[in-house]
Amino acid sequence: MEIDKKRAILKHNLDSMWNFYDEVEQFVSQIDSPREVPDFSGYVESVIKEPKDPFLEVLDTASISQIAFTIKSCKRCSLSVTRTHSVPGSGVINAKVMVVGEGPGESEDLSGEPFVGKAGVFLDSWLHAISLSRTENVFITNVVKCRPPGNRNPLPEEIETCEVYLDRQIALIKPEVILCVGKVAGNHLLHKSGTLSSLRGKFYNYHSIPLLVTYHPAAVLRNLALKRDVWNDLQLLAQFLHLQLKRKGE
Ligand code: URA
Repeated sequence: MEIDKKRAILKHNLDSMWNFYDEVEQFVSQIDSPREVPDFSGYVESVIKEPKDPFLEVLDTASISQIAFTIKSCKRCSLSVTRTHSVPGSGVINAKVMVVGEGPGESEDLSGEPFVGKAGVFLDSWLHAISLSRTENVFITNVVKCRPPGNRNPLPEEIETCEVYLDRQIALIKPEVILCVGKVAGNHLLHKSGTLSSLRGKFYNYHSIPLLVTYHPAAVLRNLALKRDVWNDLQLLAQFLHLQLKRKGE
């Protein structure tokens, strides 16, 4: 039976019971003023719950490696047709910082690892400058786990389908800070459609986790003038986490 039908039947029965007992009470107490039937809708919805998507139910109890395993064979959107490998993310499970990018590029699609191309090497140098690294204290992942063809931006429906994975990864890793690199990640996690320059430079609250947005390393490689803003953002992050700034050559 459909959930709406079940709820309607329960609500009807509760209303009838209320009216019956109210009639008895009026008779016993010799009063002649029926009481208004309370609204049982909230109670009915809490008793007859929407069925959970079985996929989400399994994911809710999955570990980081089980999530990665699920992502590896995911076929929930059409990006799975064009990818070589999906890229769940990698790094340290109890990370201080979780870096969230946009989606795998060509090198990542071929290797199955996040940020391993030119932009990834640049990102590693940013992390190194503030005593962070993906082998010690960082987990790196993306909003979508499969490469959008030709490196186009992921479509809203692709982001929506994939968001269960990122949500669960964040909930399990519970990083001290989330660092979004690029507009796609910033817009998605903040539910804000601003430009990157309007989003960067300050901390936000993402479900009680401080979240900072900065430029995507690929954007900085295209426009080196953005390096100054990125450095300011990295210094902000280092200050917040009491991280040591590395000197040149260190
Ligand atoms: N760009 C991204 O946003 N993510 C990657 O993993 C690689 C490039």
